[in-house]
Amino acid sequence: MMQKVLYIPFLLLLSLGLHAQQSNIFPQPAQFTYTRSLPFQITAATTIGGNNKEAQKIAQTLSNELSRPTGYTFKIGEKGTIQLNLNKTPNAELGDEGYTLRVTNTAITIDANKPAGLFYGVQSLVQMLPPAVESKTKVQAKWSVAACQITDYPRFGWRGLMLDVSRHFFSKEDVMRYIDRMAKYKYNVLHWHLTDDNGWRIEIKSLPKLTQVGACRVPRYGKFGDHEAPKDGELATDCGFYTQEDIKAIVAYAAERNVQILPEIDVPGHSAAAVAAYPELCCTDDNTMKVNPGSNFAEWYGNGQFKMLIDNTLDPSDPKVYEFLDKVFTEVAALFPFPYIHAGGDECYHGYWEKDANCQALMKKEGLKTTHELQSYFTKKTEKIIQSKGKKLMGWDEILEGGLAPEAAVMSWRGLEGGIEAAKQGHYVVMTPNDFVYIDLLQGDPLVEPDQTAYKQVRLKQCFDFEPVPEDMDAKYVLGGQACLWTEKILSIRQAEYMTYPRALATADMFWSPKSTKNWDSFTQRMEMQMERLDMAEINYARSCFDPVITATQKEDGKLYANVTTEVNNLDVYYTLDESMPDRFSPKYTGPVFVPEGNSVTFKAVTYRNGKPIGKTIAVPRAVLLERKK
Ligand code: ACM
Repeated sequence: MMQKVLYIPFLLLLSLGLHAQQSNIFPQPAQFTYTRSLPFQITAATTIGGNNKEAQKIAQTLSNELSRPTGYTFKIGEKGTIQLNLNKTPNAELGDEGYTLRVTNTAITIDANKPAGLFYGVQSLVQMLPPAVESKTKVQAKWSVAACQITDYPRFGWRGLMLDVSRHFFSKEDVMRYIDRMAKYKYNVLHWHLTDDNGWRIEIKSLPKLTQVGACRVPRYGKFGDHEAPKDGELATDCGFYTQEDIKAIVAYAAERNVQILPEIDVPGHSAAAVAAYPELCCTDDNTMKVNPGSNFAEWYGNGQFKMLIDNTLDPSDPKVYEFLDKVFTEVAALFPFPYIHAGGDECYHGYWEKDANCQALMKKEGLKTTHELQSYFTKKTEKIIQSKGKKLMGWDEILEGGLAPEAAVMSWRGLEGGIEAAKQGHYVVMTPNDFVYIDLLQGDPLVEPDQTAYKQVRLKQCFDFEPVPEDMDAKYVLGGQACLWTEKILSIRQAEYMTYPRALATADMFWSPKSTKNWDSFTQRMEMQMERLDMAEINYARSCFDPVITATQKEDGKLYANVTTEVNNLDVYYTLDESMPDRFSPKYTGPVFVPEGNSVTFKAVTYRNGKPIGKTIAVPRAVLLERKK
């Protein structure tokens, strides 16, 4: 399909005229138009120019992308047949990250105000070449780029992905691989969840036990959450952390790709790994605390109510805690150029504070009526520490409870409400509502997804349907949005990619492209072309959006019916109730299917397109249909 678009015959191009069109580029450019010229040919004679040193640096990036698959060595200088220019007079329409890209048969020109814009122009150009441009090895390249004109700039300045490296540790190389791919889709923030109950992953030189103790847990296999607690005397051999040299290398690697890193130190809750290293930091001074290997240590009551069975919470009444935080944030601030530091604040259990005499005395002294106000007291002090290092505090939306710290920005994860409320109070927000953009959640049927126990689904279409700026909200406070990958159940970078793509293609469009360009069918067509490129690049992704979506209804007379829909449109669904595997010779689904009674009755369905299977076969036992009934 990609080929068809790339090699559009000249006459067809002429007939396309000059009106705005859809490109195959991810994210969708603000304005894209095919123009009346023959295509530009990439050959061994192609040269790449940059009108100053910074532009030539990006020219080198382009050269690297094209040399690998073509085997050509591109001459880089001030002038080239592909020309990258940094504007001497800024073009206000483009801002810091926008660019214009013009392709004729004789030249490709990318203009931008800043190197970031040139970098993004290069990403768009590479995406206009065939999927083989992603090949790891040399291919027969006879490539042309259709003549076109692009003017492009982002809708939001914050286009994030979050990677949790506490629950599962990802190597420096894995993190770089993740950054490399996100940058191609014009994401510009990696929110790096560096600390949690299950591992402290960042070297803090003044607090060596954080990694000597906090980065190691006893090894466990199988289902995270059900793991056996550490046994007496058992060695904690499952270790992983980033040295400060690793972090500098990752920050520099990201910066070359216009990705900034938001470090998260999750306090005062989620701190078992810190407490295992320094037990004096929690109210109970629990010196039996171990880094949690994935055991269940909380009771969840629904509606956000829970009880922590271990004291994984820093003591807000203890001056030692603020000395600790001062040391941590001094080193974190020195390592990360990004203006924000994320200080967590989520799911902090207050039960140990309620029982602690020092916390109670502090509340009395400070006139704090609730433990939410006590957490707010903690966050305000943390904000002062972070500000003293020249940075700004961001926190999960729980930091609203008990009163926001004066300058804090809010990451709204329990819905959009936290973001709306923070904006009302004049605070900046990043929208990450779990119902739409928590990409650790299931993207398909639990019966066929790798993790069958996730607590809910966020299908591709839900990601696509998300709108980060609710109607009644002042858009100026919305910095942007972010998809979050928690990694309790994600043990490898391949699995991280499977969970990230294609959902992060939907969010890439949402965070970058004008709202007016949003269209599900054209998104899914572009996505399929992108999948070919991901295959070439050996990046994993899920095809769950092609699977049948099976639900059930039970009529008043007790009769049970199976219903099938599809996320991607125009697929055919075939089903069976007779124990056989469905194929295109089985009954075609046209509406609810009566499912007769019987212990072993199973409804099976599969999707086809153009006579070929495209999704997985999903077999839902009658008993499971009954659980799914509306
Ligand atoms: C969160 O998901 N606990 C921020």
